Amino acid sequence: TPPEAIRNFCIIAHIDHGKSTLADRMLQITGVVEERAMRAQYLDRMDIERERGITIKSQAVRMPWEVEGHPYVLNMIDTPGHVDFTYEVSRSLAACEGAVLLVDAAQGIEAQTLANLYLALENDLTVIPVLNKIDLPAAQPEKYAEELAGLIGCDPADCFQVSGKTGAGVEPLLDAIVGQVPPPVGDPAAPARAMIFDSVYDTYRGVVTYVRVVDGDLNPRERIAMMSTKATHELLEIGVISPEPTPADGLGVGEVGYLITGVKDVRQSRVGDTVTNARTPADSPLGGYRDPKPMVFSGLYPIDGSDYPDLRDALDKLKLNDAALVYEPETSAALGFGFRCGFLGLLHLEIVRERLEREFDLDLISTQPNVVYDVTMEDGTEVVVTNPSEFPGGKVADVREPVVRATILAPSEFIGAIMELCQGKRGTLLGMDYLSEDRVEMRYTLPLAEIVFDFFDALKSRTRGYASLDYEPAGDQSADLVKVDILLQGEQVDAFSAIVHKDRAYGYGVMMAGKLKELIPRQQFEVPIQAAVGARVIARENIRAIRKDVLAKCYGGDISRKRKLLEKQKEGKKRMKMVGRVEVPQEAFIAALTSD
Ligand code: GTP
Repeated sequence: TPPEAIRNFCIIAHIDHGKSTLADRMLQITGVVEERAMRAQYLDRMDIERERGITIKSQAVRMPWEVEGHPYVLNMIDTPGHVDFTYEVSRSLAACEGAVLLVDAAQGIEAQTLANLYLALENDLTVIPVLNKIDLPAAQPEKYAEELAGLIGCDPADCFQVSGKTGAGVEPLLDAIVGQVPPPVGDPAAPARAMIFDSVYDTYRGVVTYVRVVDGDLNPRERIAMMSTKATHELLEIGVISPEPTPADGLGVGEVGYLITGVKDVRQSRVGDTVTNARTPADSPLGGYRDPKPMVFSGLYPIDGSDYPDLRDALDKLKLNDAALVYEPETSAALGFGFRCGFLGLLHLEIVRERLEREFDLDLISTQPNVVYDVTMEDGTEVVVTNPSEFPGGKVADVREPVVRATILAPSEFIGAIMELCQGKRGTLLGMDYLSEDRVEMRYTLPLAEIVFDFFDALKSRTRGYASLDYEPAGDQSADLVKVDILLQGEQVDAFSAIVHKDRAYGYGVMMAGKLKELIPRQQFEVPIQAAVGARVIARENIRAIRKDVLAKCYGGDISRKRKLLEKQKEGKKRMKMVGRVEVPQEAFIAALTSD
């Protein structure tokens, strides 16, 4: 297809504003998917995605569309909607010339609407403002058209009004994509350069790489090279998705499609990298490549220790499809053998954990997630801490923690509640703007550690669900952080060590000591539970001693009954972990790590 007849676009929206539904409707209206084959959310392929209603992996579909008798090819590139996947969103946007900015006509602009709009503008995309769900009785398209027009600087009348559900307004929108989005521009005679915007592992075909060709062309059976690694591969298949993969003779300037090379690991075909021809390579890659960087770490342990090899195999398999997942073996005195895993964020952690439990049938326990700390010792050595129990014990000169720039949108009546929450989380207000008379945008710098845990829930409950949040990494800052250890009879329980702000150390210590006192059964001797910062004890509880005689109830000489009881106790012992001389049921660890 000549570039003049191609339009590459994406749909960007706040979560639940109806992106997948509109995408499905476009597939149907352009005849790519027949009505009877239409299953809800065609583009969301993974079960978890469908159940949670979120999009994790971007996909690209080619749709034919005619305007005034001229045939066009529309490539719709689906973008993931969650903050954890911002980098993938930005790569998908870089593959397009236009973006449909979708806003729920009953909700108005939300934090991710803004975040995605800014990403689109950074990528010089033509933005088409669209109000969705106009079929809803609560829709206020006129009111929100004003808001949207004010934001992007257009006339409210230029905002399209559609319903992804009923299909109303979708055909004019497709016409507008052809009319407003510029066709791709590139040099057909130059060495090939194509940007990878997604990469998915398929059990049967190996890695399927989605690319957007910028210059030159890619053809079947030639050798291609990845510009970041210099690795070369033979192109086994090249094609387009419409809506199933269909082999093609090649991809030229502006075209979007997939490549199959037989590699087995998505790390060899990374999002953001540039594909070129191995024989006549391009001089320089396309800009914007970035290694995925884990931001949140957590220990994952099998509840049944004998599942450890299965957990390792499962992680190896997941890694094939997830370039951002990192892990290494770790041993915990309390939890046994497991892995320290790094994730892009909390949602990424939850998704990985859920896939491990569901697809690989594993029962797992995960430790409190933590961020990465850079510790400088007084003698100048630098330590990167991804596990609180490894926080160095010597003289610490400086501890740095990652911070984010957060954008919060909410009705203005909640300004006070939001400020109070952010101050409590060590936030710094950067600025505040009114989007309309009753809606405000607040910008904060916040430590990542303070928002990865319960920030979003706290924000929602203080604003009755009306606030929305988006954030992006913004470097790091020095902070007064200490490690709190929890000791049972003087022995440190590694899984409970935490790095917290100095002012929070006492609260954490009292909370954990109290919790463990409830959870750990009494022993033959007294067990002190202590919380300590270095050698200084900051909180203490005691578990009183008892003498436990399992045979006491068995008066009389029923020997078989006695034996049964002893057997039962032995079985119970297997599920006990020893911390020094103290027996702790595994359930106690699990409960202490999972509650609130
Ligand atoms: P993510 O993929 O998770 O970002 O969500 P999304 O933006 O794709 O939202 P999705 O298409 O899953 O729609 C969210 C909810 O809104 C679903 O319950 C849809 O049925 C509903 N919905 C989407 N479009 C419309 C619409 O035009 N009208 C009405 N009434 N409901 C809609």
